[in-house]
Amino acid sequence: MSERFETKTVHISHSPLGPGVSKTTPIYQTSVFAFSGLEEVEQYYEGNQGYLYTRNGNPNQVELAAAIAALEEAEDGVSAASGMAAIMAGLLAVLSPGDHILVSDELYGGTYALLAKELSRFQIEMDLIDLKRAGSLSGHIRPQTKMLLFETITNPLLTVVDMPHWITEAKQHGLVTMIDNTFATPYLVRPIRFGADLVVHSATKYIGGHSDVTAGVLVGRAGLVQRAREVIVNYGASLSPFEAWLAARGVKTLALRMERQCDNAKQVADFLRRHPDVEQTYYPGEEDVSFFHCRKQGAMISFRLRDESRVYAFYRSLKWIKLAPSLAGVETSVSHPVTTSHRALSEEQRQTTGITSGLVRLSVGIEAYQDIIAELTSALLSE
Ligand SMILES: Cc1ncc(COP(=O)(O)O)c(C=O)c1O
Repeated sequence: MSERFETKTVHISHSPLGPGVSKTTPIYQTSVFAFSGLEEVEQYYEGNQGYLYTRNGNPNQVELAAAIAALEEAEDGVSAASGMAAIMAGLLAVLSPGDHILVSDELYGGTYALLAKELSRFQIEMDLIDLKRAGSLSGHIRPQTKMLLFETITNPLLTVVDMPHWITEAKQHGLVTMIDNTFATPYLVRPIRFGADLVVHSATKYIGGHSDVTAGVLVGRAGLVQRAREVIVNYGASLSPFEAWLAARGVKTLALRMERQCDNAKQVADFLRRHPDVEQTYYPGEEDVSFFHCRKQGAMISFRLRDESRVYAFYRSLKWIKLAPSLAGVETSVSHPVTTSHRALSEEQRQTTGITSGLVRLSVGIEAYQDIIAELTSALLSE
């Protein structure tokens, strides 16, 4: 079988071959598996072969995890009930009470909340660091520092940090690196190739691709993934078979969708940059993605309206681009970070981060880019 990414995305099925066997993987919509006798039960426990109980493992969960592990070029993978469940499992696979983690100061709000509100109760401490500037981790390392966590493309300002540099630095300090590759996907960049230990996805986004599934996947070094698998089982954070099946179906068109969405985004970003009513456009530059395997710049764009008072009119006048606080579906959608994901920011934080009321986040879909531009043009004109 060819090793090329596009081919791998399509041929992920775990369905056995044979006459009368379904071409696509069936949905193992069962909470438990039946055994022909006690000998078989014994075999399960001895060799951990087969399946016992869906919370512990199910063929659809395994299919999804194996597909993402193959695409990310990781040793092993595990699926989870959501991106947050996968992040939690990755963190708890490594961190114990008293440990310390370094995280990017541009972090998905849910990940921040998990660390600030939940893991802090287990005396796991974090420090936010600015990875946008070239620098060193040295000043932030404590004897208890165990991990570095950051996103390949951040939300909502779409910053691409120098991932190869930070992974190398983290390794020099003996840290485990966990990279959230949700916004880039392995189509654009595979952090394992740069030495990352764990890669996590909200499969709710580009992996699923159709805004109809909530799922997460964690891939990486086999020993760490195995520990994360135990966390998922023990915390009851396993993915449902149907959600796993839907996400795995999404994987088959990942390359096609990403190619089209990224190409559309480039056109839309060029349009926004030139538009007189747009003060600033946030979209990774060609030089930012110089280490990406595929030199496309992603399919997310944020932009700030010059006249903030027109922001309500802008959202109201969109005809078919939906206002939806998520991303990565095949349909173009917009969200408003200040009233949703970044609601908790103080006015001062809004001004310093640039996440102000006039900031629009656009998830570019697979439509004809001319139609996306036409829709944005009329919404930008609205009063
Ligand atoms: C970068 C990133 N990571 C993780 C998550 C959490 O994923 P989920 O909503 O599937 O739990 C999100 C959700 O928006 C995200 O944007």
